[in-house]
Amino acid sequence: MILLDGKKLSAEIKSELASETKRLLESGKRAPHLAAILVGSNGASETYVASKAKSCGEVGFISSVIRFDESVSEKELLKKIIEINLDPAIDGLIVQLPLPKHINVQKVTETILPQKDVDGFHPVNVGRMMQNLPCYIPATPFGIMMMLERYRIETSGKHCVVLGRSNIVGMPVSILMARNNYPGNCTVTVCHSKTSNLEEITRQADLLIAALGSPGFVKEDMVKEGAVVIDVGITRVPSKETKSGFKISGDVDFDHVASKCSYITPVPGGVGLMTIVGLMKNTLTAAKKEIDF
Ligand code: GUN
Repeated sequence: MILLDGKKLSAEIKSELASETKRLLESGKRAPHLAAILVGSNGASETYVASKAKSCGEVGFISSVIRFDESVSEKELLKKIIEINLDPAIDGLIVQLPLPKHINVQKVTETILPQKDVDGFHPVNVGRMMQNLPCYIPATPFGIMMMLERYRIETSGKHCVVLGRSNIVGMPVSILMARNNYPGNCTVTVCHSKTSNLEEITRQADLLIAALGSPGFVKEDMVKEGAVVIDVGITRVPSKETKSGFKISGDVDFDHVASKCSYITPVPGGVGLMTIVGLMKNTLTAAKKEIDF
């Protein structure tokens, strides 16, 4: 069993990003600039945004965090997005999800200019991804692709089973794994809450991508011997073992599943760290205006 080491890989990619940023600055350009909008004070969102900002600093990017109270109106939020769309000093914009119920997420997503949509959530980017055109790939699926690529994991002709169909992970990663690319060229099955005989399907997976947000969901008897298992789960569960009072739990029962796998991602230290580099890679692409929309 080989551990897919997100810590090592993300450090390696961050060092490449730092070198590229240095080259940009030496050529007289400014550093890539990522703006993140954070609404309310959701603990997990605060942590994610803080770690995105920290990682930006580490590679020489500029980052701005724009905070709004939970009670912000949709109109005010959209106004800020439009302002950032028009600001030539900002390359990429993300609005951290989830948003309060009174705000229409789709409206927010579609207000961000596709050119600055480094989350890759705008329908223009999603559509371009489906057609294998240059676009921003959502950060977590992008991170997973980089992991498969850098560990040179064979994907062509394999059966990839994706657990979960969210717009953020399940749906985009299933498209990427089916595309005529490397990584890709898989036969993909997407499982969700209405799937019958789910265990029967997961047992057929050469690659299993678990993105349900259900701690320890994937058990030993659901995994084929030699499978590649990618655990996207990062649920905070209460814990007496940590100072903070919680720990991060994946969707896979790692202790019992790991020995059956050819490769597996740990949680933490796996996909989560790759998500951040996925976002930063997109921000660099935005700064260099590499995509011809
Ligand atoms: N919430 C959970 N994952 C993400 C993500 O990748 N982007 C944004 N904007 N919000 C999230």
